[in-house]
Amino acid sequence: MEEHSRAQRFLLAYTSDFIARTGRNPLALVHSFGCQQNVSDGERLMGRLAAVGYGFTKDPEEASLIIYNTCAVRENAEDRVYGAIGQLKHLKERKPELVIGICGCMAQQKHVAEKIKETYKQVDLVFGTFAYNDLYEMLCEVIENKKRVFNRSERPTDIDEDFVQLRENSFQAFVPIMYGCNNFCTYCIVPYVRGRERSRRPESIIREVQGLADSGYKEITLLGQNVNSYSYGFSELLRAVNDIEGDFRIRFMSSHPKDASMELIDTILSCDKVCKQLHLPVQAGSDRVLKLMNRKYDTTTYLEIVDYIRDKAPGFSLSTDIIVGFPGETYEEFCMTKALIKRVKYDNIYSFVYSKRSGTPAAELPDDISDKQKGLWLRELLLEQRETSSVWLRRFIGQICRVLVEGKGRKSEEYMTGKNDEGIIVEFKGSEELIGKFVPVRITKAMNWALEGELTGIDQ
Ligand code: SAH
Ligand code: SF4
Ligand code: F3S
Repeated sequence: MEEHSRAQRFLLAYTSDFIARTGRNPLALVHSFGCQQNVSDGERLMGRLAAVGYGFTKDPEEASLIIYNTCAVRENAEDRVYGAIGQLKHLKERKPELVIGICGCMAQQKHVAEKIKETYKQVDLVFGTFAYNDLYEMLCEVIENKKRVFNRSERPTDIDEDFVQLRENSFQAFVPIMYGCNNFCTYCIVPYVRGRERSRRPESIIREVQGLADSGYKEITLLGQNVNSYSYGFSELLRAVNDIEGDFRIRFMSSHPKDASMELIDTILSCDKVCKQLHLPVQAGSDRVLKLMNRKYDTTTYLEIVDYIRDKAPGFSLSTDIIVGFPGETYEEFCMTKALIKRVKYDNIYSFVYSKRSGTPAAELPDDISDKQKGLWLRELLLEQRETSSVWLRRFIGQICRVLVEGKGRKSEEYMTGKNDEGIIVEFKGSEELIGKFVPVRITKAMNWALEGELTGIDQ
């Protein structure tokens, strides 16, 4: 049997004592802000907590432990977290034994950890993205020794290959294949808060996906900031995962355009479980701006990949990220981004007004366009996208799509929602029993944000 550490033994004794006193497990609330990598880290933290006897809740009133796993990518992401921490002040006053922890990308930054230490005294525990392996020791210090703990360790820990995770969703799973980022795009905080790239071993990824397929998962998303630079070969990994038996589909994100190769496209097209979809963040449509962003590709090479895809698989779905108003970007350059999204025809774009991140090179560049003006540009971009995508989505009308049903629809009470293989939202009339299943839907209508259709060929 595996030997427990002292901290682990302490926590096991703490939770069993809690059960003896109250008749139930102490409950933890773990909330992840930000990207899917963060959601996956949150599931890992929950796995660790479950292993020492915690249960889980979404209600802060019931919780003995609250952990906010934070995102630092834009200022508004950080503001949301500060607001949420502020709201816990009164709860902590009423329940002094409540333990409050802040972790993740924000917590890795020195100035944030200091601000929390000084201003948010209700927080007991602050730990960055390298400290997850120390969770038990840190909790023990807070609960047993009643100390506040601040851990911004930067030592890259060994990848814990077979970590326990507690997944909240029973049919869609995120599987991290690598951590960190080496790209240092000039606007981006991620490399500073997540460190250098580290890849997981293919054997352990394959073992994990096999386990998920065996327990009935229908959609597996492989995660990394730039999966194309996976150390052991991303195309090989995709093929190996595709060979795993089971009724599931495979997605992945993100792909950095500088490394997106024709070979990758051919691999996607030749693997039946891999969705015919690619998230290829372009960020900007001007080569001058791309250079300032340190993206290491230009629009010509980006469009070469797009044209290769369109030539081989005309219905293929592309999505992208766009930053509006990078320092020094002119209106003419912004219009080049609009022209590019019209030319590529994305099914989805995730667009953001540039947000200054302290410590990044772009934060030093002069920036004389106001946020208000940038907000107007963003609206212009979204209008352009809506016009393009509402026409482009019509390619699905009359087709039967395989939809993985996710929940109740937005359109009205009777509707359910899910996504087709291309990652596009499909709404249709159906019942809740279909959640977590693949169903065939005949598409009847394209709206500007989604498709609508009718269930076909199954008993309802
Ligand atoms: N590794 C991924 C991106 C992760 S961050 C990739 O390179 O594709 C997700 C998106 O947030 C980025 O693609 C970018 O569009 C946006 N983003 C990152 N830093 C930003 C900033 N400082 N201001 C505005 N948007 C930003
Ligand atoms: Fe940030 Fe660029 Fe790395 Fe993506 S590739 S996480 S945008 S530095
Ligand atoms: Fe993700 Fe936000 Fe961190 S986007 S990597 S949680 S800064």
